[in-house]
Amino acid sequence: MSTREKLEELKQKRALSLQGGGQARIDKMHAAGKKTARERIAAMVDPGSFEEYDAFKLHRCHNFGMEKNKFLGDGIVTGSARINGRPVYIYAQDFTVLAGSLSGTLAEKICKIMDLGMKNGVPVIGLNDSGGARIQEGIEALAGYTEIFTRNVLSSGVIPQISGIFGPCAGGAVYSPALTDFIVMVKEQSYMFLTGPKVVKTVLHEDISTEALGGAVMHTTTSGVTDYAAEDEDDAIRYIKELLSYLPQNNLENPPDTPCDDPINRPAPELNDIIPDNPNAAYDIKKVITATVDNGIFFEIKKNFAPNIVIGFARYNGKSVGIVANQPAYYAGVLDINSSDKGARFVRFCDCFNIPIITFVDVPGFLPGSAQEFGGVIRHGAKLLYAYAESTIPKVTVITRKAYGGAYCVMSSKHLRTDINYSWPTGEIAVMGSKGAVEVLYAKGAKEAGDAQAFLAEKEAEYNTNFSNPYCAAERGYIDAVIEPAETRARIINALESIRGKRDTLPMKKHGNIPL
Ligand code: HXC
Repeated sequence: MSTREKLEELKQKRALSLQGGGQARIDKMHAAGKKTARERIAAMVDPGSFEEYDAFKLHRCHNFGMEKNKFLGDGIVTGSARINGRPVYIYAQDFTVLAGSLSGTLAEKICKIMDLGMKNGVPVIGLNDSGGARIQEGIEALAGYTEIFTRNVLSSGVIPQISGIFGPCAGGAVYSPALTDFIVMVKEQSYMFLTGPKVVKTVLHEDISTEALGGAVMHTTTSGVTDYAAEDEDDAIRYIKELLSYLPQNNLENPPDTPCDDPINRPAPELNDIIPDNPNAAYDIKKVITATVDNGIFFEIKKNFAPNIVIGFARYNGKSVGIVANQPAYYAGVLDINSSDKGARFVRFCDCFNIPIITFVDVPGFLPGSAQEFGGVIRHGAKLLYAYAESTIPKVTVITRKAYGGAYCVMSSKHLRTDINYSWPTGEIAVMGSKGAVEVLYAKGAKEAGDAQAFLAEKEAEYNTNFSNPYCAAERGYIDAVIEPAETRARIINALESIRGKRDTLPMKKHGNIPL
């Protein structure tokens, strides 16, 4: 072959590879309102930055006539790219090729970029859309999946891993996304489950739709598997890009600094009026968050799962932080099984990636009851305790109102190696609320008193004066300063500035044994 012919051959192969499973299948994707794998990557990364690898890779399967069923690239597009100028490795399963089913070859392509991500300290983004294990390959496919899972685990805490689910993700295939840091699904287009509706029907005689069993809404409200339910593919891509902007490239770097045009001393006078005089009245903690962070921008994670705790990213003076906050507007901000899990995983993520944590506290305690106890609230609550205690990143806490009992201890109290603990003057730091406390302490006295009601009311007032305030804790140094709510932004920024160079360590060990 002449050089010209060789160049022509390359051109043809490239064109063939770009076709994936063929135009008819591409048209089918478009008709269903979906992007192809390549279009998803193109929408995600900086124009012209995508460098594809293994575009000509072919499967090696001979079973079931598969020799005749070969497509260049074998059902997945992989490579390196940049998002907002920062390197990423990315893969997108190509549903036009045998439904993006996972062959040994396809797994090798994913593993290659995962290895590159690890070696180079670069995040890996996986866009999933696949019929699962390629049935014709049998054990090859299972081995391939497991190689991916192992890399997910080894990469955990070293580089951020983000999964987009754009179509089916079923069977054991769900475990790769589940092992990554964040999962984004597309509403009414993607699903994740271990066993689909047909098996559920056969085994349990239960009728359930694909969407109800494993759709984006279910996973962002009920199971908590997924972090965000996108309206459509573009929304999912936007979310992933914005998420990345808060994260460092790897565990040895700090998150990127962003120019900040929001004055660091900007007061938020509305916060002086946000706490109702009635201690049982609700208010929205997100108003406190948005009033204090740069330009009021709060990037919430797992918004609809366990809304009694709020988590997400924001910036103070252009620097990324993770925010954890009890939400008095939902179940009074009580801690329970799901909110503990949600908070703990987020704290651990931030700790892996050098993202300081700001905790806003207004929590009446843990949710009582048999459902919680039977469900293991002790075990789950312990996760949050564990996560805060083991974390070595800079931590700042602001108690806005209630910090009662075990929940005071758990919510980034001074005793969990938190660096700076503030309280608003409305803080109530005590073993329990006044009503409950007085009923325990003065049950006998109330019986003996002529007017039990008046007696208990008097004792409650006494308890409130003596205990339901931030000053008992401040006297002991457990609260570093009682601050005016309006000045919270400046105080948090000052605190973060003072602890930016923090060096904290854990005792030498292989790893701890977090209650799971
Ligand atoms: C090989 C597959 C395939 C698979 C689909 N195809 N799934 N080939 N292995 N797993 C092929 C089809 O034969 C078809 O080929 C083409 O892909 C498109 O599939 P359709 O069924 O026509 O598409 P659609 O109607 O859109 O349905 C998509 C689907 C369905 C919902 C994904 O194909 C499906 O249910 N597939 C099987 C899913 C599954 O059970 N996978 C195994 C899960 S167990 P032709 O050439 O006819 O067009 C698992 C274990 C992993 O994954 C364990 C890891 C530890």
